[in-house]
Amino acid sequence: MRRRAVSTGFAALVLVLAAGGCQREERQTRLDPPIAAALDGVALMPDRISGAPPAVYVALGKPYERNAFNLAEGKRLYGWFGCAACHGEGEGGKGPAFLDGWWAYGPSMVSIVSSIRDGRPHGMPPFRDKMTTEQIWQLAGYVQTIGAYSAKTAAPGRSDAKQRRPAENRAPAALLFDPGPTPLHPDQGPEP
Ligand code: HEC
Repeated sequence: MRRRAVSTGFAALVLVLAAGGCQREERQTRLDPPIAAALDGVALMPDRISGAPPAVYVALGKPYERNAFNLAEGKRLYGWFGCAACHGEGEGGKGPAFLDGWWAYGPSMVSIVSSIRDGRPHGMPPFRDKMTTEQIWQLAGYVQTIGAYSAKTAAPGRSDAKQRRPAENRAPAALLFDPGPTPLHPDQGPEP
């Protein structure tokens, strides 16, 4: 009897600790409209390549480049919105490759957001009417990780020692596709 009371007490303690012990990330199902509007305020250079990110993006701690949830959402959107039809899984096709780490319009988030949102003159359709501002940023964060330049900034939360092989977004670009007869560009980024 006493033993049972002890084990019930122990189970209750475990429950209380489990409920209170883990600090969960707060996630909203919908971005606050004022924040979404502020994120739209991308100040591009006159040639529409690169520029300043909106102040709110920096204030939020650049969530779309560093947060595993947002990157995973971006990956899902990449499939859902048919980016692969023209860009493949990053190796390119009708559209340019991302895996080679070369960006015609710059590697920064603002450039990529603008490419997706407003389109680009030589065949990149605008997606501004098809997805929300948050989705565009999530997608841009994911697309940026495909290019080798940003491979090191977008590691998942689990420490690398616990990974059995390099995280997907840390794997060297060269291993993910056959570069063909043209050698890879030396600026492609460091080996992991
Ligand atoms: C109909 C084909 C097509 C589809 C679909 C498409 N793209 Fe593109 N994309 C292009 C082409 C072509 C370019 C090159 C445009 C140029 O050089 O002006 C491009 C350029 C880009 C760039 C700029 C690349 C750079 O080097 O700076 C980004 C980023 C991009 N696309 C992302 C996306 C994403 C994300 C999606 C899915 C939502 C998508 N694209 C869907 C054809 C497409």
